[in-house]
Amino acid sequence: MRILFIADVVGAPGRRALQERLAALRSELGVDACVVNGENAADGIGITPRLADQILAMGVDAITLGNHAFRRSEIGEYLDASDRVIRPANTSRNTPGRGVTVVTATGGMRLGVVNVLGSLFLHPATSMFEIIDELVEQAKRETPVVLVDVHAEATSEKAALARWLDGRVTAVVGTHTHVQTSDATILPKGTAFITDAGMTGPHDSVIGVEADLAIRRMRTGMPVRFRPAEGGVRLEGVVVDCDADGHATAIETLRVPHP
Ligand SMILES: [Fe+2]
Repeated sequence: MRILFIADVVGAPGRRALQERLAALRSELGVDACVVNGENAADGIGITPRLADQILAMGVDAITLGNHAFRRSEIGEYLDASDRVIRPANTSRNTPGRGVTVVTATGGMRLGVVNVLGSLFLHPATSMFEIIDELVEQAKRETPVVLVDVHAEATSEKAALARWLDGRVTAVVGTHTHVQTSDATILPKGTAFITDAGMTGPHDSVIGVEADLAIRRMRTGMPVRFRPAEGGVRLEGVVVDCDADGHATAIETLRVPHP
């Protein structure tokens, strides 16, 4: 089975790139299932029901989110009803939506998807380490192929989670920093891992935001409304191959300039 994971889609430039490239990428690469991190899809922050539907219609099987999952409050009800758009699992028990799902990919193959949030700077309700075993077991009751999107700031938390899950899930893919790391690897017991899959959006920026605005906020300490930048758009992510038992056999990074 071949899984394409598309890193954090930022604003209209990121969505446009996905819209214009995903179908061709799916067929060129022979992708069976596609997962997209969509937590920055709405103007760089959050996602709306309309945008989630649009992204799914582009040929995406599941959408994961992150620390900005609930910036648009209307997404709550949508997440309660959706089995293809998930938010980090380690939020409050009362938060709408779910943090694990199983989707059906090309040829009827099934892919479990888990979304968790790291602790540094992101303040989840509970540590991902408290709940991850249960989430993985829940997904594995339905399929041996499981991908974990660990949305976290700290490299160390992502590496620790991947090592903890080595041999039990197909892939642990880091998101949130928007900078693709060069450490894609298969861990000793067969889990594919990358610290961060990167960003699908404008790279001529400060992690997706117009540089002038980010600099002004940092220099002055004053509130500045951020806007996604426009230039240097790239699609980024990883392609993971696995066998029927869910063990990863390859992981390759993807960086596609657009246009
Ligand atoms: Fe994030």
